[in-house]
Amino acid sequence: MNIHTYEKLWLAASMLLIVGFIATVTYGAVGLGIAMIDDSESSINPDALDEDDRFTDPRVEEMDDGTYEAYVVAEQYRFNPDPLEVPANSTVTFYVTSPDVIHGYEIVGTNVNTMVIPGEVATMTVEFEEPGEYGVVCNEYCGAGHHGMEGEVHVVP
Ligand code: CUA
Repeated sequence: MNIHTYEKLWLAASMLLIVGFIATVTYGAVGLGIAMIDDSESSINPDALDEDDRFTDPRVEEMDDGTYEAYVVAEQYRFNPDPLEVPANSTVTFYVTSPDVIHGYEIVGTNVNTMVIPGEVATMTVEFEEPGEYGVVCNEYCGAGHHGMEGEVHVVP
């Protein structure tokens, strides 16, 4: 075996790791009763969140098809709404945005973990099965109050 063969092997191995990592992030939370299905972003004017009906009144809303949508604002230094309540055995699409600086949105103990960038709406669909309470933390340094920027998601029976 010459050196180039080794390089190719390592390249293939690292590709596999990356694919495996993405698969883990996308499907890995199933065992916890939570599965992330989709991940996408769209743009919004961060200075005019009050002109977008999703974020004038951050909330959880039931859709006609029985699924839910959660509109969340991450701002210095809180998540709104907090706590965020969703029913057990529900499918919830989160829309999370920021009016000020970059924040993170991680539901601790699950694979729900995204950056929240002003001007973008982080979107992910999550299935909640069992009732429970989850902490929410901000994973991006966002200023003096970053370490205290916490919230809760309650999955209620
Ligand atoms: Cu918000 Cu750190």
